[in-house]
Amino acid sequence: MSVLTPLGFTLLRELADGDFHSGEDLAAKVGLTRARVSQVLKEAEASGLALERVKGRGYRLLEAPGFLDADTIRRRLVEFGAARPVAAPLAIEIVDQIESTSTELSRRSQRRDIHGMLLAAEWQTAGRGRRGRSWTAVAGGSLTFSLGWRFEQGAGFLAGLSLAVGVAVVRALEAEGFTGIALKWPNDLIHRHHKLGGILIDLNGDALGPSTVVIGVGINVRLPASVRDELPVPVTDLTSIAARKLLPVDRNRLLARLVDELAAVLHQYATEGFAPFAAEWQHRHAYQGKMVKLLLPDGATVTGKVAGVDASGALVLADGPRRARFLSGEISLRRA
Ligand code: BTN
Repeated sequence: MSVLTPLGFTLLRELADGDFHSGEDLAAKVGLTRARVSQVLKEAEASGLALERVKGRGYRLLEAPGFLDADTIRRRLVEFGAARPVAAPLAIEIVDQIESTSTELSRRSQRRDIHGMLLAAEWQTAGRGRRGRSWTAVAGGSLTFSLGWRFEQGAGFLAGLSLAVGVAVVRALEAEGFTGIALKWPNDLIHRHHKLGGILIDLNGDALGPSTVVIGVGINVRLPASVRDELPVPVTDLTSIAARKLLPVDRNRLLARLVDELAAVLHQYATEGFAPFAAEWQHRHAYQGKMVKLLLPDGATVTGKVAGVDASGALVLADGPRRARFLSGEISLRRA
């Protein structure tokens, strides 16, 4: 996919109202030739944004994304925070384009305290997924952000953190009216067996603590069919889910809700660990009680019935009376 330049974002912000803008007006606003405007907008299209061109009227963004804005997110957080006593001191930063919000926060953590630092990007050029995979997102059509958090404890205590984060994300989506979203161990967000989003935790620190974690969350908001078709797994987005229920997707509001729920879960996790989230996680697990095949990191497979997760977030599979726990791997439904 093409990479959007900062100029591309300047143009897209001009088009964010969803109205027609003539090539001439756009060119004058950003100080470019009309030919260059046309070229930059072609790049925007190639990065997944749907544009309409009409002779005599100009350009119009179909499904204008409503760009992320730190002040709007702050206002929403105050609104949500009033309903909840846990107030997190948050530093919010929005960037148009970055390699990866998680890579950048991890880099910053070498030099300073990133506790409560939220970094969200309209577009990642090298988004990372779990197990070394890449994460595809569309400019203005995804939510991609990372949150830094410090814990006094070490890696063992944090083993279930990514699952607790999954609970926070589903709570936030539900609070915003998106129902039917489930978790898939360890922390995929799915809707009717299609992947909606994912969570990536980067952990730095001593085994006994303290630790600094970078919590990366990616959610598909509006993925064009051309992008979906290129992905290796069936995916969905919030727009498809919302369309059926006539809900508009307000990414600023949603991001604020996600941060609000995340902060509450992280505060609780810091003192109580994963245990208080285990029952809710299981309840939200799409594969709870199902026969699954687990592909282990070494390529071996194990089958069993999902009994649940233990207090450290490990998957527990039952094979008759025997129970076995697994810390990593990929599960898929086993055909009967
Ligand atoms: C997965 O399901 O594989 C996890 C995907 C996590 C993607 C998010 S997007 C924001 C943050 N920055 C990254 O580079 N990755 C995470």
